[in-house]
Amino acid sequence: MRTVALVPAAGKGTRLGGALPKAFMALGGRPLLSWAVAGLRDSGVIDHIIVVAPADRLAEAQEIAGPRASVVAGGAERADSVRAGLAALEGAHHVLVHDAARALTPPSVIVRVAEALWSGEDAVIPVLPVTDTVKTIDEHGYVAGTPARATLRAVQTPQGFRVPVLRAAHAAALAADDLTDDAMACERHGVPVRTVPGDPLAFKITTPLDLRLAESLVAARAD
Ligand code: C5P
Repeated sequence: MRTVALVPAAGKGTRLGGALPKAFMALGGRPLLSWAVAGLRDSGVIDHIIVVAPADRLAEAQEIAGPRASVVAGGAERADSVRAGLAALEGAHHVLVHDAARALTPPSVIVRVAEALWSGEDAVIPVLPVTDTVKTIDEHGYVAGTPARATLRAVQTPQGFRVPVLRAAHAAALAADDLTDDAMACERHGVPVRTVPGDPLAFKITTPLDLRLAESLVAARAD
């Protein structure tokens, strides 16, 4: 049963404001991508890694990803990058899609997702309870509603899938331009999505504040 990790790393990282694409920005002196790949390797549950990189950084991505990894070029949107990675998947039963931006994800989260898949689930996502109250708003900026917080979860990666399930879901969602994660394509395709506990350390490095938090966590590890 081959389990492959697919790492979307082709985003521009505009919100981080750096000169480099986000996955190539430094954290503790190493690219974010290098941290994400190391976490996947440390989990011990991944047979092969496919990195989806910007078209002009394929060689650099391969060098960072190291052995037992391959690199393909990404697309305009994250979903396009995931589809490019899926097209390059051969002979895998399960795929874990893991954002390079979640650089400090503990291996234990990766193991939890893989084990739930191996036990027979079609789709598995790591989640955390939400601490803020979350509101929906209308187009004028007025509150439209307040979903019950106890039913809400913040979603992380890696998100794990049986390969044919994710392929079919992404093919069916080809026309959608509002996919913010891969589970969403599965939900719309009628696939039950199982949740497992995530971890606060699997936060996505999106803003300069996130990067500062990650830097201090890495520095504390080195002490
Ligand atoms: O933009 P966002 O933070 O949601 O991106 C999540 C992940 O998807 C990042 O690791 C980013 O590099 C990747 N991505 C991609 N191709 C895109 C856009 C984002 O691989 N076109």
